[in-house]
Amino acid sequence: MCGIVGYIGDGNVYDILIKGLHRLEYRGYDSAGVAMVGDDGQLNVYKTMGKVSNLETFCSQKNLGARLGIAHTRWATHGEPSDTNAHPQTSQDGNIAIVHNGTIENYKVLKDALIQHGCKFASETDTEVLVQLIEYIRVTNKCSLLTAVREALKQVVGAYAIAVIEKSNPDTIIAARQSSPLAIGIGDNEMFLASDATPFVEYTKECVYLKDGEVAVIRRGEPLKITDLDNKDARIDVKTLELSISELEKGGYPHFMLKEIFQQPETLRDCIRGRVVEGGRKININGVNDNKEVFLNAKRIVIVACGTSWHAGLLGKYLIQDMCKIPVEVEYASEFRYSNPVLDERDVVIAISQSGETADTLAAVKIARDMGAFVFGISNAVGSSIPRETFSGCYIHVGPEIGVASTKAFTGQVMVLTLLALAIAQLKGTLTDAEIENLGKKILEIPSAVEKVLKLADKVEHLSLIYTYARNFLYLGRGYSYPVALEGALKLKEISYIHAEGYPAAEMKHGPIALIDAEMPSVIIAPKDHLYEKIVSNVQQVKARGGNILAIVTEGDQQICRLADHVLEVPDMPECLTPIITSIPLQLLSYYIAINKGKNVDMPRNLAKSVTVE
Ligand code: M6R
Repeated sequence: MCGIVGYIGDGNVYDILIKGLHRLEYRGYDSAGVAMVGDDGQLNVYKTMGKVSNLETFCSQKNLGARLGIAHTRWATHGEPSDTNAHPQTSQDGNIAIVHNGTIENYKVLKDALIQHGCKFASETDTEVLVQLIEYIRVTNKCSLLTAVREALKQVVGAYAIAVIEKSNPDTIIAARQSSPLAIGIGDNEMFLASDATPFVEYTKECVYLKDGEVAVIRRGEPLKITDLDNKDARIDVKTLELSISELEKGGYPHFMLKEIFQQPETLRDCIRGRVVEGGRKININGVNDNKEVFLNAKRIVIVACGTSWHAGLLGKYLIQDMCKIPVEVEYASEFRYSNPVLDERDVVIAISQSGETADTLAAVKIARDMGAFVFGISNAVGSSIPRETFSGCYIHVGPEIGVASTKAFTGQVMVLTLLALAIAQLKGTLTDAEIENLGKKILEIPSAVEKVLKLADKVEHLSLIYTYARNFLYLGRGYSYPVALEGALKLKEISYIHAEGYPAAEMKHGPIALIDAEMPSVIIAPKDHLYEKIVSNVQQVKARGGNILAIVTEGDQQICRLADHVLEVPDMPECLTPIITSIPLQLLSYYIAINKGKNVDMPRNLAKSVTVE
């Protein structure tokens, strides 16, 4: 998983590429590089380990005048992060440069064959194999770069979004995609390409999302041309971007993660808008309205997702089973795809993915579709692969999420799943009109309740000082609070690098209770719900073993307040709506602990925002 950018036009090539790389740094940041056909007619390739800012320092004394260029920010898959393994990768003769996002699965076979033909490799990357193959075909067949790229791609098995340039051709960039995203921006006498539209949204709103198997020829002064690998013309579908620049900047916050946590009242309003109507009496989800028969006849729902989206999916199971009386299974997409799933046309598969590009989730979508299931997508990134590969779906509309730790996307996903469950229940009559209206009205109150929860930020910041140096945490919850516990633990792990385990509170006595001592805090999510008395006992069990407890409770709680060492009180909500409210103090806790530890919260080590490789 990596980010790629390309530019051709009269603007400052280097500046546009670097700015674009900064926007894509959420996709990977262990090395970065640019290749430009310079004013001097040379193919100038500059690359180095580390973040894009390192690349800028590295380039400060270089010749940066250029006619076109491509650039890359990397998250290593084949070959450790190093200057040599950084992209762009170049052909042996130094004439061709490539940037690549994805993995070439058969790179070993191709590499061995090229070595037999005398090819020498400088890096350990699968990407170098592709550029060497392109060069080999170009030289052996004496064909154009475009033909060589097409012929090379026919031999490749795997996922790629690539951009290729050549020293002798300062007016052309060739791009192609298979299972990795690639967007092309069309401006006035200039064109851009990137892994998503954020690098070029400030220059143009006209965007074409390349489809699998397509090759684009981006040539100075000529209209965009797209073909398939056999050179058959493809339809060019120009979309208008709705993104704005302010959405991509920190807006006065020190980190994107904090901005995104504080955006939640607004993002939830956007997510609900037009979907809870007639004062809460009606739930309007187009994907359900347009497919009534599918949802009425669904015998089972299978939810596939990864990471935080999987936690939202687990909440989706509770919501749909409670409200719609349809059995639901929740699967890690990475397991589902290799588990010989049994599906048929009466199954509905819901794929949840913020980025819409997670490789395992996308693969699960394709499998489900091939087996005849109805596939419904829940995504944030408009125009990404999952919405395009699913039959129907629903966007969460929370705007670009840049911080690697998912926050506003999680609450948006949970909100959409709640609305989806209500819409299906309304259709099937498994909830009464009064029950729907009651929940509909409460949903409309959620953004203001979230505003209130965010007022706890100072208290959470203060508490974080007490907990920063704990080496292990237990997060406990029951029912709807169990997935919240899992999500709270994941947030802490990924940005503060503290080990944390999320556990169903009642399961604790079957093992993890042995871990409890004064050194290991338990974060217990205990809102007033039908399991409240049960979790009070779990709190007592932890207390009796000398454990330190931070509890998330409903305002006015007395029992847990007496037992816990610290409490954070959140507004009262119907049980099924508590996860959105109780997850927010946990987001803040992980943020402040990571800050106290001096960690880079927006770009945690070893992680990237969207995982487009297996
Ligand atoms: O884009 P997706 O929702 O498909 O991403 C899935 C996971 O990679 C993602 O949720 C990951 O776990 C986050 N870093 C969690 O904060």
